[in-house]
Amino acid sequence: MKKPDIAVIVLAAGLGTRMKSDRPKVLHKIAGRSIIGHVMAAIAPLAPSRVALIVGPEMDDVAAAAGAATKDLRITPVVQRERKGTGHAALQAQKALAGFVGEVLILTGDTPLMTTAMLERLVAARSGPEAPAVIDVGMRVPDPNPYGRMVVGADNGLERIVEMRDATPQERKIDLCNSGVFAVDSRHLFDLLGQVRPDNAKNEYYLTDIVGLARRAGLACGYIEAPHEEFIGINSRAELAMAEGFMQARLRLAAMAAGATLTDPSTVWLSHDTKLGPDATVGPSVIFGPGVEVAGGVEILGFCHIEGASIAKGARIGPFARLRPGAEIGENAHVGNFVEIKNARVEAGAKVNHLAYIGDARVGARANVGAGTITCNYDGFVKAFTDIGEGAFIGSNSALVAPVKIGAGAIVAAGAVITRDVPPDALAVARGRQEDKSGWAKTFRAKRAAEKAKTAKRSHKD
Ligand code: UD1
Ligand code: CA
Repeated sequence: MKKPDIAVIVLAAGLGTRMKSDRPKVLHKIAGRSIIGHVMAAIAPLAPSRVALIVGPEMDDVAAAAGAATKDLRITPVVQRERKGTGHAALQAQKALAGFVGEVLILTGDTPLMTTAMLERLVAARSGPEAPAVIDVGMRVPDPNPYGRMVVGADNGLERIVEMRDATPQERKIDLCNSGVFAVDSRHLFDLLGQVRPDNAKNEYYLTDIVGLARRAGLACGYIEAPHEEFIGINSRAELAMAEGFMQARLRLAAMAAGATLTDPSTVWLSHDTKLGPDATVGPSVIFGPGVEVAGGVEILGFCHIEGASIAKGARIGPFARLRPGAEIGENAHVGNFVEIKNARVEAGAKVNHLAYIGDARVGARANVGAGTITCNYDGFVKAFTDIGEGAFIGSNSALVAPVKIGAGAIVAAGAVITRDVPPDALAVARGRQEDKSGWAKTFRAKRAAEKAKTAKRSHKD
């Protein structure tokens, strides 16, 4: 059978006042990506030909964030000027979907945990000539109180959805709740939405009314069920944190299923795009920001913070290392404790093991960067580059004032302040010369002791 053409309407005009935020709620982040971005990423594999994103006035950045999350979707932002309810919001997509024939999925923009698998099941339920015109995704929740209840008939067809406030005491006992996700035959959708009236407790146009309206028109309606965790909506900071927890649990399981070892999974924080190769080992309390790629066999010891970095196979990172955007760690390289690396390539087998800052730099293969080395990359105006050649040795507590180049195989003496290029294989010493004054310390101590005794005697007399 030919794959159905799919269009998606995403409802995201809600303000999210309970977030108490200056930003629209769907721009808040989970696992390093906006909530709306997660929704778009779940949709993308279905390859919909159109996506209508319903936003409120002055929510341009919501459309931008949606577009940034995936390059594969053609997203049409549609502004709902007045927030008159979910039915009214969906109706705003009519122009954007003009001429479209196929399956229309309607979903909410504030539910970042929805999965592609669930949406695929929904589309499959709508396929075939006998399929119901409207299919709702139902869920069974521990506390059904705020949700719309699904009234299911004797034939197991869906008869209508009744919102909590409009429900009879009998209907409130129904535990099958509307998740807010629908699939509708495009031939009927806008006809049904056009018939929705705001005659209910909230005086809103309810999307959920399309079920009863379809039945009245002699169209069949059905439902599938999915785990309620997929539909956790974000309305408050507490719900944001809860959704983050679910997302992290999912990402950790996926990382382990792909062959990474997480010693203490619940303390490792992953980003939506974190890539861990097979046999990568991640110790406790490691945090991954977006854009990290870790090859197989890499060992990341506890308490590291890693963002926008790539780590090649066999490298060892941490404990307590910080890799910032643009850090590229080569094969079998070592980055140790209290080392910060930013926009720098540490080539194969190089070692930066203790207390160092390497920014805007290259550390050549097999070079050894001693404890306390600092690349002075910023003069308050511009950033400059430090190039450390292959096999070079940088003595402890050196300052490399960029732009500067340390030749291959060169040695920089400990405590140096290097302001000029060092030729290959040279020794660079750039510090005050040592002078030993014989007996000086002993004489100094004797003098000070005598002075102290004198003052003590005087104060005794007083
Ligand atoms: C809705 C459903 C309810 C379901 C619940 C699941 C209706 C009438 N009720 O209720 O059956 O159990 O979701 O969470 O649909 N939105 C707009 N424009 C509007 C109104 C809403 O874009 O004018 C968007 C919101 O941004 C949100 C979504 O639609 O993403 C749902 O709206 P919300 O007000 O949260 O609906 P609920 O009352 O939770
Ligand atoms: Ca809601």
